[in-house]
Amino acid sequence: MSDQPWGYRMQIKTVGVVGCGLMGSGIAQVCAAAGYKTIVREVDETFLRKGLGRIKKFLEDGVAKGKVTPEARDATLVRLTGTTTTDALKDCDLVIEAIVENLDEKRRTYAALDPLVKDHTIFLSNTSSLCITELASTTKRPDRFGGLHFFNPVPLMKLVEVIRALTTSDDTYQTVFTFAQSLGKEPITAPDRPGFIVNRLLVPYLLDAIRAYENGLGTLEDIDKGMTLGCGYPMGPFTLLDFVGLDTTYYIANIMFDEFREPAYAPPPLLKRMVLAGQLGRKSGQGFYKY
Ligand code: 3HC
Repeated sequence: MSDQPWGYRMQIKTVGVVGCGLMGSGIAQVCAAAGYKTIVREVDETFLRKGLGRIKKFLEDGVAKGKVTPEARDATLVRLTGTTTTDALKDCDLVIEAIVENLDEKRRTYAALDPLVKDHTIFLSNTSSLCITELASTTKRPDRFGGLHFFNPVPLMKLVEVIRALTTSDDTYQTVFTFAQSLGKEPITAPDRPGFIVNRLLVPYLLDAIRAYENGLGTLEDIDKGMTLGCGYPMGPFTLLDFVGLDTTYYIANIMFDEFREPAYAPPPLLKRMVLAGQLGRKSGQGFYKY
């Protein structure tokens, strides 16, 4: 099938985002910035305030850098509503779930939404590792379900991966692909396999960098410098590991190793121990580097 949008396209007006963490807040921001009425849900006021604060700060920084106009900032914020209730999502045409990577939590989220939303509403998951077909099968709308995988930092990274479950209908796929383009993103179609396209290639590279470091290849700084200055990567592997989160990388690696059983995906001992020690990267103040 062509990866260009054609044929039937559902009109999306209102978008729901479940989860206002690092990814959810970025997703809500780009949806609102693209002109959609956007409702973002968090479990409690504290998390919600933190997530909405992150969006406001990003927009303010954008204005200060001359990348966002004050009018665009204001219009984005007007289109964005935060909530702690599931009920507030009942009129959404499309709901993007960006909560913790836990199948039971996700299943509970879809079960609460399923009877509430309209028949045509599409569910999308931003999961980076769980099986989209399995997630779809836990809902009453497996044909109106897909994966939409964003990259961190969401407002800056141009790519999104569109993933079809075995059950995703052509109409849903085309609607989602067009929706991704309407956010100003470049979508690619990725298979429903662990890691999709990007993490399938990125994660073994990051794991290999840790293994090489464990084996004395060089200092963290020199390996990072090698890949930034030698290959033009925006971040070296250890800076990127700290940025993505060592726990997130460890989690994805384990899921990929479970599926493929190839040594390239096996988490190195150092990664496991750093996660166990709570050295998760930037978010914990200590990873391969100190913050
Ligand atoms: N609003 C609008 N624009 C902004 C902005 C803001 N608040 N903040 C920054 N920008 C713009 C800047 O003006 C700049 O634009 P320009 O290129 O036109 O000048 C651009 O964004 C880059 O910003 P900075 O110059 O401030 O920062 P850097 O040059 O250091 O880039 C980065 C930061 C984009 C994060 C870059 O380091 C990068 O691309 N890193 C790699 C990130 C990456 O690989 N992400 C994917 C991780 S994997 C993942 O997410 C998948 C998951 O499943 C694990």
